Order: sequence, then C-alpha cells, then structure tokens
Amino acid sequence: MSVIVPEEQSAFLRELRLFHLNYKFGLDEILTKINILREELAFREGANPIEHVNSRIKTIDSLRAKAERIGCPLELDAIGKQIRDIAGVRIVCSFIGDIYRVLEMLTSQPDVTVREVKDYVALPKPNGYRSVHAIVEIPVFLSDTTRAVPIEIQIRTVAMDFWASVEHKIYYKYAKHVPAELLEELSAAARVAHELDTRMGELHRIVHG
Ligand code: GTP
Ligand code: MG
Repeated sequence: MSVIVPEEQSAFLRELRLFHLNYKFGLDEILTKINILREELAFREGANPIEHVNSRIKTIDSLRAKAERIGCPLELDAIGKQIRDIAGVRIVCSFIGDIYRVLEMLTSQPDVTVREVKDYVALPKPNGYRSVHAIVEIPVFLSDTTRAVPIEIQIRTVAMDFWASVEHKIYYKYAKHVPAELLEELSAAARVAHELDTRMGELHRIVHG
C-alpha cells in the first residue's frame, strides 16, 4: 500500500483543480458557439430554434464519487478517459427538426470533434426517454499548451425536456424503485409528448413551409 504524504496530496489537489478548470474553459467555448448560433439565426430567420440552454460541471466531490463508483483510479488520465460527462450542456429546441439542425451546425464546425452520438429521439430508451446525446471534444488554448476537452451535449425538445424533468424527480422520489403502474403512466406520457412534438412540427410546417 502506498502512503500519500501531505505535499503529494496537495500537489495532486492542485493538478485536479487545474484539470477541472479545463472543463469550465471547454464549457465556455461551447456556450459561446451556441450563443453565436442563437444570435445569427434570430437575425437571419427572425426566429430562434433554441428555446433555452443549461450547462453544468460536476463538482470535484461528485467527480471523485463517480470515479469510485465506476472503479476508475483517482488519476487524471484515467478520469479524463473514463468520465465523459464532467462538463455538460443541454440545449432545448422548439421542434424535433431543430434538434438535428443544431446538432449539425455544432458538429460540423472544424474545431469540434465528435466522439459519440446517441440518438434516443429516433430510438427512445425503454422508459420513453428521448434526447440526442453527443460527446464532442473542443480545443482549449492555455498559456503553454492546447487541451482537447470532452463535453456532453444533450439536445431535446421542450416536451422531451418536460418529460425528462418529471421522470427524473419521480425516479429520485422513489429512490430508483418506481412502482410498475407509475412506469406505465410515464411511458404513456412519453407517447403523448411525442405526439405533441409531431403535431407541433406539422403546424410549424403549415405556417412556415
Ligand atoms: P448509456 O449507454 O446508457 O450510458 O447512454 P448515455 O451515456 O447516452 O446516457 P446515460 O444513461 O449515461 O445518461 C446520460 C444523461 O442523460 C443522464 O445524466 C441524464 O441527464 C440523461 N438521461 C439518460 N437517460 C435518462 C432517463 O431515462 N431519464 C432522464 N430523466 N434522463 C436521462
Ligand atoms: Mg452513460
């Protein structure tokens, strides 16, 4: 067993803080990109496909907790490789078509590298969850180096977001053991939310072509 002496521990903590800060910088970069798209589209089209945007960074404590939970060694290299959702952005759009437009606009930028895309809109999770998830890497230019920082992006409609937020609360209220009839109800609500998305999309097409 290795013993960590206090100096080593504080050196590691400093490294960890710097590592964590890179994710904030990555988030700043992606949020700037999203804001540019919002402003440009509002100007060119007079309407904005993005309703709202949220972002979050895992705290150092929850990062450590997740590393322990998944059996990832407390080393920066391993954490960076195994935990891909340290920085996350959620983009909520008006219509289903906007999800793919926004995804394409972001992922086609030359400094954005797509690592993974999971389309739970086309193929919802068994509980009814819909969203598009992407992991992208974005360069962050530091004083003496450039870091590629992974960011988790979730893109969904307002209806999908409403459903996910209620489902999330229920899941936690029942400490992950949701009664079967509630699961059935949630699954039915997901179908209604999808029906609403489809009908709103139709309305939008009739009005705007
Ligand atoms: P996996 O291969 O299953 O890991 O897919 P993933 O990495 O695309 O999704 P994961 O299950 O890891 O979830 C990533 C994030 O998506 C979560 O932190 C939630 O914010 C959201 N999410 C995924 N599934 C659900 C769900 O069933 N309900 C809700 N409310 N949110 C979900
Ligand atoms: Mg996952």
